[in-house]
Amino acid sequence: MLFGRTTLSKFVIEQTRGQHSDMGALLIDVAAAVKSISALVGKGALSGFSGSAEATNVQGEEQKKIDVLANEAILRHCEWGGQLAGMASEELDAPYAIPAAYPRGRYLLVFDPLDGSSNSDVNVSVGTIFSILHRAEAGDAESSDFLRPGTEQLAAGYAIYGPATMLVLTVGTGTHAFTLDRESGNFILTHPDIRVPEATREFAINTSNERFWEPPVQRYVSECKAGKTGIREADFNMRWIASMVAEVHRILMRGGIFMYPKDNKDPAKPGRLRLLYEANPMAMLIEQAGGAASTGRGRILEVAPEKLHQRVPVILGSREEVERLERYHYEYDTGADRPYASPLFAERSLFRD
Ligand code: AHG
Ligand code: MN
Ligand code: MN
Repeated sequence: MLFGRTTLSKFVIEQTRGQHSDMGALLIDVAAAVKSISALVGKGALSGFSGSAEATNVQGEEQKKIDVLANEAILRHCEWGGQLAGMASEELDAPYAIPAAYPRGRYLLVFDPLDGSSNSDVNVSVGTIFSILHRAEAGDAESSDFLRPGTEQLAAGYAIYGPATMLVLTVGTGTHAFTLDRESGNFILTHPDIRVPEATREFAINTSNERFWEPPVQRYVSECKAGKTGIREADFNMRWIASMVAEVHRILMRGGIFMYPKDNKDPAKPGRLRLLYEANPMAMLIEQAGGAASTGRGRILEVAPEKLHQRVPVILGSREEVERLERYHYEYDTGADRPYASPLFAERSLFRD
């Protein structure tokens, strides 16, 4: 079929007609920003923007030149249209105020302009993650307006800059993926209504942190690694790309589980990933595709944010495995996974004097 396929513009206009048509216009601007970033990232070393920006962001992380440019791309593409009350980004300490020259709207755009940017200089997939929240009225957003739980997201998505550039989107009616046709410049709906398989034998975690994990995560991963000879009685496979977008994309396409759990590497940080612009949008996309997304102790989407750049433990993907990990956390928290250490056992012990 040469023409007549569903473009991203057609999809969002149809899906947001009526109450949220302004959000449809905003999503089309987000897609335009994504195309600009895709073109830049796709040039690789030829862009002249490889390497460090010689600066750190509010989270103390080194910014790459490409992080700063991707951030600019989204601000410039989305600030003018009159749909937004404000924006917040991984690369900006405080929310971005809409310039005086432009009208204000009631939507809030929150984003990680370039996720996995440690991979950008080695030509491995990176991405952009975004989430749309709203406030009651049009106007200038304050920081507190952004501190809403993920259940209130109206839309969420990511772009992955891989061999193909894809945009994966939910507006609360399933998770749908579009592939960029580089010749026509259109995003074409290629993967409608994605479903994450409920069972999987593939896990993704940075095992170099194993000694810092909590016991339930150590238990889960050691059982996976024991394979056929262990209690799971099945061999597992492992993947780690160090780009959350690429891990989530693989899980949406063929199932799996991704973990960046709580660890005690730095007690000030309850996890590595940021709630508002990494964990929440991915959790919405995964749930809308029938998967699950948890901190290990509850649904990510129900976490009440206290700070813009707050971090959160992330366990997401195929439902059966996420639920198993929740059970392991519960058993650990109640002591049920160590019956021999429980006071009950001590009372009944033959060796008690
Ligand atoms: P960012 O590049 O936006 O800072 O995010 C990187 C994140 C995420 O993409 C990935 O899952 C994780 O950091 C990689 O962490 P390790 O460096 O521990 O592998
Ligand atoms: Mn990121
Ligand atoms: Mn980033």
